[in-house]
Amino acid sequence: MLPIGERQPMAPGPEGLYFAPMRPQALALLAGLTLIGGTGSLATAPADTASLPLFRQQAAPLTDAAMEQFLRTAGVVRSRETDKGVTGSVRATLSDGALTHDAHIQTVEVFKSEFRAKGKVERNFRDSWRFNIAVYRIDRLLGLHLVPVSVERNWKGTRAAFTWWIDDVLMDEGQRLNQDASPPDARCWYDQMRHLRLLDQLIDNADRNHGNLLITHNWRLWAIDHTRAFRYSKTPRFPAQLMGVDRTVLVRLEALDFSTVKGAVERHISDADIRTLLSRRDGIVAHFRKRGEAALFDRRSSPAGCMN
Ligand SMILES: Nc1ncnc2c1ncn2[C@@H]1O[C@H](COP(=O)(O)OP(=O)(O)O)[C@@H](O)[C@H]1O
Ligand SMILES: [Mg+2]
Repeated sequence: MLPIGERQPMAPGPEGLYFAPMRPQALALLAGLTLIGGTGSLATAPADTASLPLFRQQAAPLTDAAMEQFLRTAGVVRSRETDKGVTGSVRATLSDGALTHDAHIQTVEVFKSEFRAKGKVERNFRDSWRFNIAVYRIDRLLGLHLVPVSVERNWKGTRAAFTWWIDDVLMDEGQRLNQDASPPDARCWYDQMRHLRLLDQLIDNADRNHGNLLITHNWRLWAIDHTRAFRYSKTPRFPAQLMGVDRTVLVRLEALDFSTVKGAVERHISDADIRTLLSRRDGIVAHFRKRGEAALFDRRSSPAGCMN
């Protein structure tokens, strides 16, 4: 069993947002940011794929289905421990001959009737690779597109979540706060953050720390590491932090039912987990419906990120 590390949960900011107020010098600072995190497919490609014709290397973005297929079947070229994180997860380079891309491999599977960390006791603590896959599927049911594609696959004799590595990472949320960097389009950024809040409360996520939020160069927000989701609250924990939702996402949220969720998450969460999630969903929808038009927005398309 892997050791369980303590993590620093993220402190909610004003207005239920995860970030500090914007500072005027932020845009200038952006120019000086260091590139961190994922290297692109081309950067990690071995010599044979790097020499492919340009049209093969710069193909249109892959669909979720194509990424799932790749993650399930591409060969693992090499692997190493991730630089950050506490569960000892793995970063692997996969290749199917035509495409080379990295994956995050998570095998953690822990249950404790009592888990103590930072002076707090958590009952029926769970930390599971399965939740990475379940949250990806729920994200797509809602059309949020905050969570990278994740599939089940064998890794060294154990079941694991293989998750699409996010390339083009500019920084994580912790680094953004340290560098005092503000988004180029605040409204778009806030909309992403509002959806993140919605997702975290829907899945009752206990581990939204700054390292689990990645920001790409176009200021698209990615939510990773959901192995400590699916706690047991029947109501959204922080309704006041639910600041807004895209109209179409709200319609999808309202339409979720047991069989749809079950079909999507398969065996990765239990029937009881689905019922508790739907109970939280009821609370979230009621909250937004009560707030009416003021809580609704029309978001930008996710792949475009938040550049002006
Ligand atoms: N899909 C991904 N794309 C890019 N980087 C990732 C991805 N998944 C994980 N990472 C990197 O690996 C680190 C550890 O992974 P994480 O899932 O957060 O594990 P832990 O449970 O140990 O915190 C993350 O903080 C992030 O820097
Ligand atoms: Mg993490």
